[in-house]
Amino acid sequence: MLIGPRDDTRELEQLQSDVMDVTQAMLALPIRLPRTRFYRGLQARKRIMDALRQEISTRRENGLKLDHRDDFLQTLLLKSHMDSPEEALTDEQILDNILTLIIAGQVTTATAITWMVKYLGDNTDLQEKLRSVQLDLASKHNDAPLTLQHLNTMDYAYKTVKESLRMATIVSWFPRVALKDCQVAGN
Ligand code: HEM
Repeated sequence: MLIGPRDDTRELEQLQSDVMDVTQAMLALPIRLPRTRFYRGLQARKRIMDALRQEISTRRENGLKLDHRDDFLQTLLLKSHMDSPEEALTDEQILDNILTLIIAGQVTTATAITWMVKYLGDNTDLQEKLRSVQLDLASKHNDAPLTLQHLNTMDYAYKTVKESLRMATIVSWFPRVALKDCQVAGN
């Protein structure tokens, strides 16, 4: 878990809606005019960062080591607390890492899974094959929890994910600013 659990439902709903606005702004034309998708995303990003700053200062006030939350924010805070000043992450770096993971890791993965479930629902023969391959793998390991090593052997599941991503491109384009001139195919 990145930051959690959250008790305040209103705060959580605001965060979810802000994450959606930032995600949509990433694929919008970068026009900083009020009411554009891009501008709404920038405002939402600022609200998320403010909420995270507030969360960090509350955790520090309560005493970092007394707070037994087991989430990624706490891990980064504790690590930077123990590192030497030159190695420690700044608060802004911690915030950037959390925001990158919220945006890059969550919406993409959730959307990919949703499409994969839809395609498997449309192709029940493939769904059956995937289920039997996965059940086989689990029974070979006496139904013990699978690890990263097992993940690397899941060829059929890997191909299923890849094919779903090919069918439903989640990040169809991504704006980049070229910092220096470069040649593409001789031009
Ligand atoms: C199905 C799931 C995912 C898809 C389709 C996806 C897709 C992408 C794409 C298209 C890019 C931009 C590449 C580029 O042109 O530079 C990207 C960048 C990135 N992704 Fe993912 N991603 C997924 C999951 C994740 C997850 C789970 C994480 C982290 C936990 C992650 C972290 C990142 C990061 C850190 C970047 C670089 C951002 C930057 O350049 O600022 N992604 N991803």
